[in-house]
This record gives sequence, structure tokens and C-alpha cells, in this order.
Amino acid sequence: MSEKLWGGRFEEKSEAWVDQFGASIEFDQKLAKEDLLGSLAHVQMLGKCKIIPQEEVETIVGGLNKLVEKLAENKLHFTSVNEDIHLNMEKLLHDEIGPVAGKLHTARSRNDQVATDMHLYLKNQVVEIIHGVNDLLDILIEKAESNIQTIMPGYTHLQHAQPISLAHHLLAYHSMFKRDLERLEESLKRIDISPLGCAALAGTTFPIDRHYAADLLGFSKIYSNSLDGVSDRDFILEFLSNSSILMMHLSRFCEEIILWTSHEFQFATLTDAFSTGSSIMPQKKNPDMAELIRGKTGRVYGNLFSLLTVLKGLPLAYNKDLQEDKEGMFDTVETVLQSLRIFTGMIATIQFHSDTMKKATQKDFSNATELADYLATKGIPFREAHEIVGKLVLACTKKGIYLQDVSLAEYQKVAPIIEADIYYFLESDTAVARRTSAGGTAFSEIEAAIAKAKLS
Ligand code: ARG
Repeated sequence: MSEKLWGGRFEEKSEAWVDQFGASIEFDQKLAKEDLLGSLAHVQMLGKCKIIPQEEVETIVGGLNKLVEKLAENKLHFTSVNEDIHLNMEKLLHDEIGPVAGKLHTARSRNDQVATDMHLYLKNQVVEIIHGVNDLLDILIEKAESNIQTIMPGYTHLQHAQPISLAHHLLAYHSMFKRDLERLEESLKRIDISPLGCAALAGTTFPIDRHYAADLLGFSKIYSNSLDGVSDRDFILEFLSNSSILMMHLSRFCEEIILWTSHEFQFATLTDAFSTGSSIMPQKKNPDMAELIRGKTGRVYGNLFSLLTVLKGLPLAYNKDLQEDKEGMFDTVETVLQSLRIFTGMIATIQFHSDTMKKATQKDFSNATELADYLATKGIPFREAHEIVGKLVLACTKKGIYLQDVSLAEYQKVAPIIEADIYYFLESDTAVARRTSAGGTAFSEIEAAIAKAKLS
């Protein structure tokens, strides 16, 4: 037999440096376990359908199980001479049980084999990521629950806008990550499909039972078109896209943590465990982990765009370009899992400075809407009220005071309907408490949102 498992029709010896370029074993060995599981299901199916005799099935199953054991003990040695994980495994099986190993590839191609491995791999990893998102959701609820009364400035354009509860801010992220969770869960439906038995592209002449093999592998469905089965990578794209959105959410939150832990804000302090120092400036405590998650978001977007680009011009069915689907997917799985873990730890231990946050709402004009609403409630058209308050804000700014510092006499000069109760309405706690519209920042709304989030 020729040195290469596909070498029959070749006359010349291959060049090692060319082989190296085509090889994927350096990275696709991550699929070793899935490849063995796929082979075990395939050979059992061959036996069940009487395509190969039962005793040979048993020999092959024995050999594959041996490889499973060796893999667990880290005793399998892969080489780029054998190109990829599939050919390496076939060679290793041959070393274990001899030429009968060659029967395993009956009614199968590396094209359906690699797609099967990828589906199996991603199915497990997405479940892991779902666990990670769930852990984060739990921590966010916990943190929100202990910060319902923590008042902070809400921002638009990064300018003080209206006071809000910190819990409301945290629950906004809870809503985002909950959508991420739903997207990931929903995507499982399209990952959980078996391409095994699509063979090279057209199906096979052997009387195989694709449903049987799919059942053994725990897949709910099989691809209904063999060309699609071997060339579809939508499930990876969808994963990369869902991961990009998830990372974008993490990154936005990281950006806020970076701002909040700055000297200018002093809204929060990270524990030492999630901070780093400077090699020259002794005072530094840097939010490196938050910055890294923000930075790594870029590589996940990159992985999505690189696969979209790889796929855009591919004719059906399998093309070797598809080998480029792996590194970005592996990298994304690792990046998302690690980022989630670090982020959850960081949020679980972050210390919020409620006094500084509250003070920030007392030395600003974030109560200007309260005054305008007060006037509007008393019958002044809102547009007019807005104009009155705008002029007051301008006058205060010139004097270096805030709306709560204006005397009642001054107020009544501007609008006689203003009464002493205005100072109560100008307090930030009042502003938060009164925003009881559905989904608003009122304490009562937050409590209801937390109760609902706990149930889901
Ligand atoms: N290493 C290849 C990949 O990852 C496996 C499939 C190879 N198939 C082929 N016809 N050359 O895509």
C-alpha cells in the first residue's frame, strides 16, 4: 500500500513542505474524541446494516476503544505526514488492529466525517457556553438585588441624564445576556443535525441507516440533502455571530467598568485578583481583565468575518477551503468561555461605591426633567416647561449652583405655581422612585423585574 491513505493514483512522492501546508492536524487534533465517537457510531451502523461482518465490527470497535483510552492518557501521537485527524486516526487504528481497519471507511468520506466531528464538538461547547452565560445571569441578579437602592447618574451621550438605580443598569445587561442565552439555545437546533452518511457529496450505494448512526451519536435529525450536509457551515457562522453579539455585550460592560474604576468616576473598585499593576508607576491598579475582554471581542468579530469570507464564493460541495473553518471556531470557543469566566468573577467581586454614585446625582442637573415634569403636571405645556427649566439651568450654571439650591422665592418669580414640595421632587431618590412606568427604574419596577428574572 502507498504511504498516503489516498496515494493509489499518485506516481510522484509528495514534498514534505507542501504536505505541511495542506495539513490540519496541528489544530484539528482538538476533534480527536469526536472523530473516534463518529467512527464508533459509523462502524456499528455498518454492522447493523450487514455491510461488514459482525466479528470485524467487534475488532474495529475494540481498536477504536483502545484509541479512546490512549487519547485519554495522552498517548496518541499525531503527525502531519497523515494530514488531518481523520487520516491520523485511521493510521493509528491500522497500527492497532491491522488491515481490517481499512473497512471502517466503507460508505464514508472525510467530508461527512469532518462535518460530523464539527457538529459534535460545537454541540458540547455551546452547552458549556450556555452554562457560562447562566452563571453570569445569576451573579447579575444577585448584584442587582443588593443594589436596588443604589442611586447613580443614568447617562446619554456619556452626559448625566436622569438618576437611575444601579440595579436597573445591571438588569439592562441581564436582559442582553438573556437574549444571548436564547440565541445560543435556539442555535442548538441547527447544530444538532447529523451529516454522517452524506459521504463525499452524493450519498452512497451501500444500504446504510443514517438515522441509526445519528441516534447513536445523540443527534436529533439528519441532513436531508447530502450536498448540503457536507458543505454547510451555517451552524458555525451562527455560532460565531452569536458569540460576536455576546462578546459585544461583555465589551460594553467592560468599557463601563473601565470608566467606573477611573479616578474621575470612582464608582467602583475591582478586587486585586482582577487587576494588575504597572512596572514603573507604583500607584497603578489597572483593569487589564476588562480591557482584554474588550480587546478579544475584536478577534471574535474577526473570526466571524473570516469564515463569512471563506464561504462566500464556494461552489458545492466540499472544497478544501472549508478546512479554514476550524481555527476561528476553536479560538472563539476558548475566548468566549474564558471571557465569560473572568467577567463573572470580576462582577461577583467588584465593589460599588454607592456614596460616590449618589453624590454624582446631587451635584448635577439630572433632576431638570423632574422640574419640567412638575410644571407640566400643573398644566404648563411641556414644551413651555422645558423652556422655563432650560433658562433656569442656564442661570444656575452662571451662578455655579444647582436646581435644588434655588430659593422658593426665586422659583415663584419664574413660575408662581411652584410650591415648597418642589425640593422633594428634585431629590434623586424621588426621581428614581417615581419612574414607575413599565420597564422604568422605579424601585417597585426593579423588584418585579428581579422576581421575574429569577423565575426564568
Ligand atoms: N481536513 C479536512 C478538513 O478539515 C478534512 C476533509 C478533507 N476532505 C477532502 N476531500 N480533502 O476539511
